[in-house]
Amino acid sequence: MIKSFGFLWLVSHSPQLVTAVTYNVPSSPPSNASPVLDPAPVGVSLEFFTFPNYMQNVTSTMTCLRNFRDLTGSWPPIRIGGTTQDRATYNAQSSAAVTYSVSNPADAPMSLTFGSSFFDLAASYPGKVIIGLNRRLNNLANTLAASRLALQKMKNLDSIELGNEPNFYTHSDPIAGGTWNAARDRSSQIEWQRALASNLSTSNIISAGVFFGTDNFNNTNLAREEGNAMTTVKNFNSHNYPQWAGTYNLTRLMSHSAIATQISPFKTEAMAAKASGKEYIIGETNSATQGGGGISPTFGAALWIVDYVAQSLLLGVKSIYFHQGTIGNCQYCWWGRYSMGNPYYGAYFITAALSEAERIAPLDNFSNNFGGYAIYKGNKPVRVLLINSNYYESGTRSRESFTLTGLPSSITSVRSRRLTGDSATSRSDRSSPATFGGQTFQDGTCVKQGTEKIEEASVRAGSVTLTLAASEALLVYL
Ligand SMILES: *[C@@H]1O[C@H](CO)[C@@H](O)[C@H](O)[C@H]1NC(C)=O
Ligand SMILES: *[C@@H]1O[C@H](CO)[C@@H](O)[C@H](O)[C@H]1NC(C)=O
Ligand SMILES: *[C@@H]1O[C@H](CO)[C@@H](O)[C@H](O)[C@H]1NC(C)=O
Ligand SMILES: *[C@@H]1O[C@H](CO)[C@@H](O)[C@H](O)[C@H]1NC(C)=O
Ligand SMILES: *[C@@H]1O[C@H](CO)[C@@H](O)[C@H](O)[C@H]1NC(C)=O
Repeated sequence: MIKSFGFLWLVSHSPQLVTAVTYNVPSSPPSNASPVLDPAPVGVSLEFFTFPNYMQNVTSTMTCLRNFRDLTGSWPPIRIGGTTQDRATYNAQSSAAVTYSVSNPADAPMSLTFGSSFFDLAASYPGKVIIGLNRRLNNLANTLAASRLALQKMKNLDSIELGNEPNFYTHSDPIAGGTWNAARDRSSQIEWQRALASNLSTSNIISAGVFFGTDNFNNTNLAREEGNAMTTVKNFNSHNYPQWAGTYNLTRLMSHSAIATQISPFKTEAMAAKASGKEYIIGETNSATQGGGGISPTFGAALWIVDYVAQSLLLGVKSIYFHQGTIGNCQYCWWGRYSMGNPYYGAYFITAALSEAERIAPLDNFSNNFGGYAIYKGNKPVRVLLINSNYYESGTRSRESFTLTGLPSSITSVRSRRLTGDSATSRSDRSSPATFGGQTFQDGTCVKQGTEKIEEASVRAGSVTLTLAASEALLVYL
């Protein structure tokens, strides 16, 4: 239930503030608005070997996902895959969903098998699922047998990946036959796509590419070579991790303008998919590679998620799957067995911002750390998302005022919910949870807690001024 506490954020209450930015809110979607949005653009990617554990042995998983469903009416899509999909072999005799052994529970297995119950579990998820299967080990018959089962058992099957990040395969991988390069990968992908579609008598089933980044293994090149195998493709799929060990920099991760630069290469990929009549997805992503670094569990990473999702949708990405890795050894994970991660708040905020919306449009040109987006439904702006991505760690926290103009004259006040945290570096798992509209998510359950705090501000002649501290975002309801 929404309760108004009648807080008024008026410029007159803060005379020291000068307007940092003024954004005009177009009364209908402008030409630079996104394509029509998917009902659930924010999803999760669950590492293959640990998917059964996430579903069966981590209480928060289904609640964290249901929280999104409660906002949008649609279950978030999931993708099951990752490095361990290319270490996994289907075993028709196995009654266990997965079988593997590791010497340390923080490790991912080097080899594993999975049984048919793996697909029963995937079929039990109420939303759409992408299944990532093995190509690296060059066992086509095994991957076809697993694909056949996925198709038979999963009414919720979205698509099937044939291999994960083949740009990292080497000449000694079984699929390589001694030589591996982008051209060889493309012919291998297309050969496997044809085999699967003909073996299963189906089409529009493959999540193609699955490349890390865009270098010369990329979807633009792959799409060009598909020929009549294009009928097998459901979507083109890229993976993106903006940072890796040695490059960690939270200021840059969360910066509104730096995000624009970081994702710009994916624009061509989205255009290539569109030109082929296919969806384009970011099938696996998170803040940093290898499970994440020190920047990953922070509130700043939550702000990164907000802005990164918004900007990706503008590029024409349909959905974005944030990777959740080894339980108990995963810096970027949104939840674990015992604690919540602050990044979850960013995902929740952007899901709330986009719920039941049709388009999102930028209000600025990505030239600095302040950003704004208008969100449209029925061709009218229904919400505005504001972000102050200036990095705040300690000391005096700067506050900036954002003025919105061009609001319909019928609007006399707006309400908003704030996404904030103690600092960009604050961590929920170190007793410093973020809040969204004053509320938090409980450790170990993901149940929303606390009293909702709604702010209210007066609109005069179509204009309102709102204040955001450094490292904050605000969702304004028009
Ligand atoms: C569930 O998690 C607990 C705690 O890590 C672990 O001891 C147990 O083996 C897990 N159960 C299954 C079925 O994986
Ligand atoms: C499909 O693949 C299965 C498993 O490899 C094989 O037994 C079967 O002959 C194949 N069928 C077709 C039509 O290719
Ligand atoms: C795809 O690879 C080609 C080289 O094969 C390169 O010229 C092109 O810029 C790449 N595309 C993207 C989006 O990076
Ligand atoms: C981190 O990124 C910011 C913004 O791009 C930059 O100004 C700063 O120099 C970087 N810090 C380091 C240590 O590289
Ligand atoms: C981007 O917006 C800023 C104002 O925020 C303006 O000063 C600048 O000229 C704009 N740049 C372009 C290329 O439009």
